[in-house]
Amino acid sequence: MKILIVGSGGREHALAWKAAQSPLASEVLVAPGNAGTAREPRVRNCPVEATDIPGLIALARRERVNLTIVGPEAPLVAGIVDRFTEAGLACLGPTASAARLEGSKSFAKEFLARHRIPTARYETFTDLAAATRYLNEHPGAHVVKADGLASGKGVVVAEDQKAALAAAASMLGGEFGEAGRRIVIEERLLGVEASFIVLADGLDYVAFPTSEDHKRRDDGDRGPNTGGMGAFSPASAVDAGLEATIRARIIEPTLRGLKAGGHHYQGFLYAGLMLTADGPRVLEFNCRFGDPETQPIMMRLRSDLVALAHAAACGRLADAALDIDPRPALCVVLAAPGYPAAPRTGGVIQGLDREDPATKVFHAGTREASGQVLASGGRVLGVTGLGTTLEEARTRVYRRLDTLTLDGGLYRRDIGRRPYGTPS
Ligand code: AMP
Ligand code: GLY
Repeated sequence: MKILIVGSGGREHALAWKAAQSPLASEVLVAPGNAGTAREPRVRNCPVEATDIPGLIALARRERVNLTIVGPEAPLVAGIVDRFTEAGLACLGPTASAARLEGSKSFAKEFLARHRIPTARYETFTDLAAATRYLNEHPGAHVVKADGLASGKGVVVAEDQKAALAAAASMLGGEFGEAGRRIVIEERLLGVEASFIVLADGLDYVAFPTSEDHKRRDDGDRGPNTGGMGAFSPASAVDAGLEATIRARIIEPTLRGLKAGGHHYQGFLYAGLMLTADGPRVLEFNCRFGDPETQPIMMRLRSDLVALAHAAACGRLADAALDIDPRPALCVVLAAPGYPAAPRTGGVIQGLDREDPATKVFHAGTREASGQVLASGGRVLGVTGLGTTLEEARTRVYRRLDTLTLDGGLYRRDIGRRPYGTPS
């Protein structure tokens, strides 16, 4: 089978790397890919942007692609699966209408409330005066979220009332354009976070191993929220009992609710959870795999990714089971200077050619020019490794990171070292 992976980040590099190991895959195309996917055996980059849906359809036809797997949310929310299906092409992912679970936070919150799936209390606003009144009448800690897509940056965990008001004013004032014309203000939950990702086909699903992301840019969970600075698997606080609760109280009611709403949800579904003293609560849904969670999860996945994706796309997931490496895996992201507000791209990355069987360097935002690899995005690399223990995986990953250089590049030193105490 010829596989097409849509996207250019660390997640897509990890998916392409894993798909290329499948005996079922004759070749893996990545559109547009990055310098890392360009160097991967049995993988070929194709210069079509991830949001160019007509261009991707033309590519899939020209190359006789058998199955397309979509990495990022933007093409899913824009309807790539609907367009591919109309064109008679197999594309794994939810339709635009189902992808609203990620594309609109107010849609997701209403869905959660309607199906009594545990989540934070919330209100939706389009008007600053009403948002201000609400914040004044509800003292306490709040989180302010732009309704639409904002690459993981449209969420402000406000330290106090003043910060919540400022965030609401800035979003409603156009900071994120249309995505912030509507905002969700919700209660701030306390606990440890976990990512729970499944591959679904209607009501059938397989659950990938749990993982834990580090959203804040700086050590000790400080600094601005980002797309994710590092992740490890399994999550620190999810035992078998809690996993059963997450399936029964969150994943299964979500799939049932989608079906009841007329959506046959096919593809990856990611529940971002806060594990509170009162049980797990949904912070967000994503209609795709996580980034950087994909990197450690793909290192632990022994099953054939292509067989799984094909089974989901053909409605044959009921009999699927996952084979997972029991060893933990950890990924640390190297980001460009200025990330996330204003990443400076163009820096040369050195040290990539060094062989290290203990780790894998997934590229996230890189491009090749005159034989050099340059930073081309906010998140640049995701160094990932397995270990007998999480600590061993950490040591391997940080040792590898120390051999890579990017002028001004930044990475957290404490990935996998929770808890750090209360963020301030
Ligand atoms: P989201 O994109 O909605 O997952 O939000 C991004 C990050 O903001 C989450 O991973 C959490 O770290 C934080 N966050 C979101 N909602 C809440 C909440 N209600 N309480 C505490 N932290 C939150
Ligand atoms: N790492 C968080 C996300 O993929 O949304």
